[in-house]
Amino acid sequence: MRKISKIKGVKGRLRLPADKSISHRLFMFSAISRSESKITVERIGKDVETTISALISLGTQIEKDGNTYKINPKEFSSPISPLYMGNSGTTTRLLTGLLSAYRPHVDVVFYGDESLSRRPMRRVISPLVESGARILSREDNYLPMFIKGSDLMPIDYALPIPSAQVKSALILAALFGDAPSFIGEPVPSRDHTERFLSYMGVDIHKDDERIVIDPGLPNGIEYRVPGDFSQAAFFITLALITKGELLLEDVNLNPTRIGFLDKVLEMGADIEIKMKEEEPEPVGDLMVYGGSKLKEITIGKEDIPLMVDEVPLFAILGAFSENGVTVTGAEELRVKESDRISAVVEEFSKLGIKIEELPDGFIVHPSGVHGGCSVNSRGDHRIAMALTILGMVAEEPISLVGDEAVDISYPDFFSDIASVIL
Ligand code: S3P
Repeated sequence: MRKISKIKGVKGRLRLPADKSISHRLFMFSAISRSESKITVERIGKDVETTISALISLGTQIEKDGNTYKINPKEFSSPISPLYMGNSGTTTRLLTGLLSAYRPHVDVVFYGDESLSRRPMRRVISPLVESGARILSREDNYLPMFIKGSDLMPIDYALPIPSAQVKSALILAALFGDAPSFIGEPVPSRDHTERFLSYMGVDIHKDDERIVIDPGLPNGIEYRVPGDFSQAAFFITLALITKGELLLEDVNLNPTRIGFLDKVLEMGADIEIKMKEEEPEPVGDLMVYGGSKLKEITIGKEDIPLMVDEVPLFAILGAFSENGVTVTGAEELRVKESDRISAVVEEFSKLGIKIEELPDGFIVHPSGVHGGCSVNSRGDHRIAMALTILGMVAEEPISLVGDEAVDISYPDFFSDIASVIL
């Protein structure tokens, strides 16, 4: 439990932890590469540690020197014990694709924590099984899961829901096929898998809106992973509602990740963007100036995949805006680390925020943040961080139960906040 009190404002500069989505992927891609890789990742959380441990259990040699990991790919073999996936949906879903098709075949069991064991896996199991994968899961949908490696037929699948995790799982399985695979997505989701595999020498491209993957393994890579935009979004929100001034350095600004930035700019936020790199991923600095009036906006179905983990922050920004914010088309939030729609509506209401629950989103009205209560992260890292931001602007101090959930993606979250408060 952590007590959080009102702050005067924020000022300073910060580097965010290494992007979680890119870090998971680069460890996996390096483990199946033709040559050694060196990946520098700063301040990773438990989720990425889960990926590293799983790859080591499969036989990959990984040496750590400060923040740099040297990855020496070795042929995978079936681990003698079940692999613990912790809280990590990305580790689970991407490795499901990779291991169901990996050659030589491996057999593996996955299990996870309570939250992960409630998250749906059929979305990734079904298309793989259609192509010949052998996967058994609890109630055909949940962990624990048993994968018995097999030769897959080429994949030809149109994703029914936009999901970068499912898309990436299928792309990884396609690398081990004998002929090209085709994957369609209803709306674009984050494309780190496509970008990095292509950068690492895999023949993967878009043709008629479908992703075409030629089988083949990537080459090794040397790369320093930029800061995580999803974490930057918490600090952008804090600076905007406290009239602060914050410089966020070396942030990943991949267009398929920054839907949140585009929408806060549309609300009238004052943010200067300085681009520094373009390939293989756009990276830049963000200078955020609080104090602008925030206008009303609506967020709909097509916007969600580009901002999925940042959506709860609109429930904060809406309370500080002139006419509120409406979010719809976000039903996927109900199957994240917690049901994030219920978590936001129920926990934010305790603080005095006027918010209405919709089946697929919420409507938040301009409102004060009274605080003076106890709130619960529900074991969800992003809800813990969102509640912390609210606690720092509430009239009365709040108690946050489950604050340790931040360790999943951002172990230094509280000390980083402390370093920028006035
Ligand atoms: C992720 C994709 C998103 C996101 C998750 C990380 C990824 O999930 O919510 O935190 O790294 O591919 P979905 O693809 O299931 O929407």
